[in-house]
Amino acid sequence: MSSKFKVCDFILFGGHGDLAFRKLMPALYHLSFDEYLSDESRIITVSRKNISHDEHISLVKNKLIEFLQDDFSEEFFERFQQQLLLVVIDFSDNKTYSQLEVILNEFPLRERVNYLSTSPSFFGNICESLSNWKLITEVSRVVLEKPLGKDLESSRIINKKVLKYFNENQIYRIDHYLGKDTVQNIMALRFANRLFVPLWNSNHIDHIQITVSESVGVENRWGYYNEYGAMRDMIQNHLMQLLCLIAMEPPCSLEANSVRDEKVKVLRSFRTLSPEDIKSNTVRAQYKAGSSEGVSVPGYLDGNDKDSQTETFAAMRVDIDNWRWNGVPFYIRSGKRMQNRNSEIVIQFKSIPHSIFGKSDDSITSNKLVITLQPNESIELKLMNKIPGLSDTMKLQQVDLELNSHSNISRKPDAYERLILDVILSNPTLFMRLDEVEEAWKWADTIIEGWSDNISPMKHYTAGSHGPSAAVQLIAKDGRSWNDE
Ligand code: BG6
Repeated sequence: MSSKFKVCDFILFGGHGDLAFRKLMPALYHLSFDEYLSDESRIITVSRKNISHDEHISLVKNKLIEFLQDDFSEEFFERFQQQLLLVVIDFSDNKTYSQLEVILNEFPLRERVNYLSTSPSFFGNICESLSNWKLITEVSRVVLEKPLGKDLESSRIINKKVLKYFNENQIYRIDHYLGKDTVQNIMALRFANRLFVPLWNSNHIDHIQITVSESVGVENRWGYYNEYGAMRDMIQNHLMQLLCLIAMEPPCSLEANSVRDEKVKVLRSFRTLSPEDIKSNTVRAQYKAGSSEGVSVPGYLDGNDKDSQTETFAAMRVDIDNWRWNGVPFYIRSGKRMQNRNSEIVIQFKSIPHSIFGKSDDSITSNKLVITLQPNESIELKLMNKIPGLSDTMKLQQVDLELNSHSNISRKPDAYERLILDVILSNPTLFMRLDEVEEAWKWADTIIEGWSDNISPMKHYTAGSHGPSAAVQLIAKDGRSWNDE
């Protein structure tokens, strides 16, 4: 069978981890099925788990059945499994890399994607060993999974270690939100539609909301999560990236650095929060026991470290000090154990300057553009319209103009498919450059430090609710409300 793209060796460090089974292997399976990854390409799982090749194949198969469900094909797997290899390595023991060297040097000129789905504490060891064994070539790339540090300083340490062995243009820092189709659609919407060009600024936009709420709790990730919290786990990366795409100036092309230059300018324009701003414009909270989808669930601290000051919810007002966004607040929030799984971006336009509709005036609501990422991806423009038929006065209603671009595709690719394909194609546009990561940390660090000084005390909310009342007040004090209120 002919392949659409280049042959490569895909080396999956941490290939027996949860992310690898849940997202990465299914993405590789689909890319192979759809012929984006050629049959000659090899998927080399690098793991500390000392199991045989056959055990590895049956483990991968079972996990694919579990996560792909109806998309799994027994017949295709017979072919796919021939691309799968296993190398058992202790990441921090240089001599255990010898078998990897033998396998990779069967094709010394082949392009290599090293995907580090391990704890960042191994990134330095892995890169150093790859270098010691001369396995980093000009056509090698390295993909780094988050968390890339806990603050600016620790992020710099991680990045410095990797940069010792790979050039910046070989490093792909992943933020899976950038691989979501609707997130990429933000660029199409903004830069392929003249309609929005004159409207996308403080003359016409009142404010912007970005919400990423999850109904799940921290599940079996308490150990990891308690070290990070909502600010580091979601806001510093996923929500910042969404905000940048909404707020950036038009890049001159889709070329990686053109896009990343514009995103970094947005991050540099964030107003630094003073202690007073942290107090009045940020909220952090933890969930208490409640119910999720009709089932009673424990609170974040129940059965765990009672003194933990880790937030499971964060909300804040962000101001961007530049010409386009002067006076337009961005309200952002993210939390676990919320009422619904709902991720959306709301562009709230200003109200009309003068109403000619007399009594019907009350029913006029300002236009909004609602970009929903989850649970169902959609883009809706809320417009006013006349209610058809006769009446003594003209009656108005709000209608939704829906832009549903998924109706004609049979399967919606997962974000990881897009991103892995881009790494294989050497296209870093949807990955974060070092300066972006650092600017996002600089801003987040100020808030995290303020919180650790207890400038904004921890609030609480019931699991399965809309979050703490302080988040409602955060936006209400500016005379506005969240889209779901
Ligand atoms: C991850 C976070 O990056 O994103 C998780 O570590 C979170 O805590 C997840 O649940 C959310 O991703 P998605 O695509 O399900 O919204």
